[in-house]
Amino acid sequence: MRTKIVAGNWKMNLTRDESLQLVADIGGEIQNHDLNGNRVMVFPPFINVGYVMDSGNRNQQIEVGAQNLHQAESGAYTGEVAASMLTNIGVNSVILGHSERREYFHEDDDLLKEKVDAALKNGLEVVFCFGEKLFERQAGNHFAIVEQQLKKALFHLSEKDWEKIILAYEPVWAIGTGMTATPEQAQEMHAFIRKTLTKGYSEKLAESISILYGGSVKPNNAEEIFGKTDVDGGLIGGASLKAADFAAIIKALS
Ligand code: PGA
Repeated sequence: MRTKIVAGNWKMNLTRDESLQLVADIGGEIQNHDLNGNRVMVFPPFINVGYVMDSGNRNQQIEVGAQNLHQAESGAYTGEVAASMLTNIGVNSVILGHSERREYFHEDDDLLKEKVDAALKNGLEVVFCFGEKLFERQAGNHFAIVEQQLKKALFHLSEKDWEKIILAYEPVWAIGTGMTATPEQAQEMHAFIRKTLTKGYSEKLAESISILYGGSVKPNNAEEIFGKTDVDGGLIGGASLKAADFAAIIKALS
């Protein structure tokens, strides 16, 4: 059985105080809810990761991760954060490859490969994001793009390394736009991703990997999307900033 996950990407939102309030509120919303082995993760901006992690008001079922890291172990990289700094404060997961990092900070597949290696070397779990842009889908290239993104950044990994990888398929045209992929479009791509993993590795590995969908998941569409065979949960942006909405999405996981 694959683990189902709802992960909240807070992006560059919330002050320290607002972050502490939100994590406390989410904890309150789900305190009587049996997660049944499903996982809940939140990803605050670097400066607030430690505060949220150490908050006495955090429901311990809510895991805390980081949104990025630098590929080097340490050194003269002003403004950056290394993997060992994250693990040292108890962080055990990191988002890599988000489309906003690719678009605004020019992170390409080669760089992402280095970042993935740095994360795994330090024992971090990686939520690896990828997905096509609108023009790529319209041109019918979405499967090829996704395959390439996966192969370039991840297919050098060993089967053992993959135990630390969570995939998050996020069609760029659906992120923050209110334009969700239909459940059928999500299922179609997730099945393709699993087939690609089967070809590159094995069916056993493909069946073991959690593949999240991301892009305008809201309380009113989560259940239908999560109901698809190959969708193992979601990476949530906007709706993760409201405790009631995020909790409703968590409860949409079966
Ligand atoms: P959204 O963001 O839910 O606001 O579309 C998803 C994401 O960027 O991970």
